[in-house]
Amino acid sequence: IRVEPCSLALFGALGDLALRKLFPALYQLDRAGLLHLDTRLVALARDEGDDAALHKQLRASLKRFVAADEQDPAVIDRFISRCCYLRMDFRKREDYQALPDLLPAGIPLVAYFATPASVYGDICRELAHLQLIDNTRVVLEKPIGHSLESSREVNEAVAQYFPENAIYRIDHYLGKETVQNLIALRFANSLFENQWNSRYISHVEITVAEKVGIEGRWGYFDQAGQLRDMVQNHLLQLLCLTAMEPPSDLSADSIRDEKVKVLKALAPITPDLLGTHVVRGQYAAGSIDGQPVPGYLEEDNANQQSNTETFVSLRCEIRNWRWSGVPFYLRTGKRMQQKLSQIVIHFKESSHYIFAEEQRDQVSNKLIIRLQPDEGISLQVMTKEQGLDKGMHLRSGPLQLSFSDAFSAKRIPDAYERLLLEVMQGNQYLFVRKDEVEAAWRWCDQLLASWRQDGSAPKKYPAGSWGPVASIAMITRDGRSWYGDL
Ligand code: BG6
Repeated sequence: IRVEPCSLALFGALGDLALRKLFPALYQLDRAGLLHLDTRLVALARDEGDDAALHKQLRASLKRFVAADEQDPAVIDRFISRCCYLRMDFRKREDYQALPDLLPAGIPLVAYFATPASVYGDICRELAHLQLIDNTRVVLEKPIGHSLESSREVNEAVAQYFPENAIYRIDHYLGKETVQNLIALRFANSLFENQWNSRYISHVEITVAEKVGIEGRWGYFDQAGQLRDMVQNHLLQLLCLTAMEPPSDLSADSIRDEKVKVLKALAPITPDLLGTHVVRGQYAAGSIDGQPVPGYLEEDNANQQSNTETFVSLRCEIRNWRWSGVPFYLRTGKRMQQKLSQIVIHFKESSHYIFAEEQRDQVSNKLIIRLQPDEGISLQVMTKEQGLDKGMHLRSGPLQLSFSDAFSAKRIPDAYERLLLEVMQGNQYLFVRKDEVEAAWRWCDQLLASWRQDGSAPKKYPAGSWGPVASIAMITRDGRSWYGDL
């Protein structure tokens, strides 16, 4: 890869996201030789401080968030010497005055907004005032609004100053290595693409389960809930990549055009479907890995009347020729038994069955795309059990491609490393376009309206489980089960 120099202005540089994810990812790019020697970083935040204080804080956060065997003292020194600090209130024009002097002229600027969306418009206005528009890419973190209307306001505030081809909306799931592999798997293997439709596939499951709770973010999370926090973005993006038509090429717009079509074809979940197509849950006290953990309503600063959901499972339908009649079961929750993100494609049985009838229900091929942990892809196939005494007894086993075994020399990069690299290269295909964000909100708004109309409280589930029993009942009703639940 040829890397070009650029300047990075990181707004909200002392926040959790920047210290935990962005600086470590940039350090890793530096370590891999993917930051040009002339690339400089300006850290912008409200706190009093100077370069020395920033450098101290960066050393501490690299020590904490980079694996010990990946901490190279020489690279850490080089990386830190690229970084400088500018204190500012993002709404105050005078605080921006010193910024241009910190940005070498003539090279692209990446302005990364790791701030609340409410100040995106202010930052853009001030960048415009400084005439830092033409050669600038802006990176927007989620959440972009909390509804269609508010996401439009955010998008419009930015669009007053920047054209769509300079706007990079982050969904960090798109930076995960296995998610990109889904594109390779589907479109570089005729084996799969030929079978990728309702004729051969019975149903699809997408699970994003987390062991963590809300990690001290009550204020944000209680306003958002799991649908806005995870489904509107990450799960719908996974659904789009799984279900979209083959794009005509790998360009950002070709891929995004196809994703938008999927979102538009998603059947709305109207109030009459709430009983059968949706489960909302909220965790109660329980235990994770043998340790007791509090329930959602007992978290710090909790409002004990809250009806916010920490779990959602959905039975979605895509109304188009490829997927008609194939349910997509989605589920995501906090405080679940395992951290697990996977997509499971269940293939239909062959039309004529010649083996022992009692084994019939096990005979279905599954393609399992594991995003985390243990990134990899496996295809469950039926084989004969070995041994003279076994007859034609079948066994289901994996044909497996584990990324860490297969490419053992390589570490799996974090999603933010990939995404920052793509922004610096000016590639938008792993970023979400305005119409995608809005189509996803339109669909979620409909579901939120159905919930409001219905008014029921979320169903409780003990922390450390797989969610409310109603989620199991939802899929069992169709004669199926969630793959791999223990
Ligand atoms: C974020 C959500 O977008 O994704 C968090 O706001 C969630 O609530 C996180 O924990 C999960 O990301 P990952 O990469 O750990 O699966």
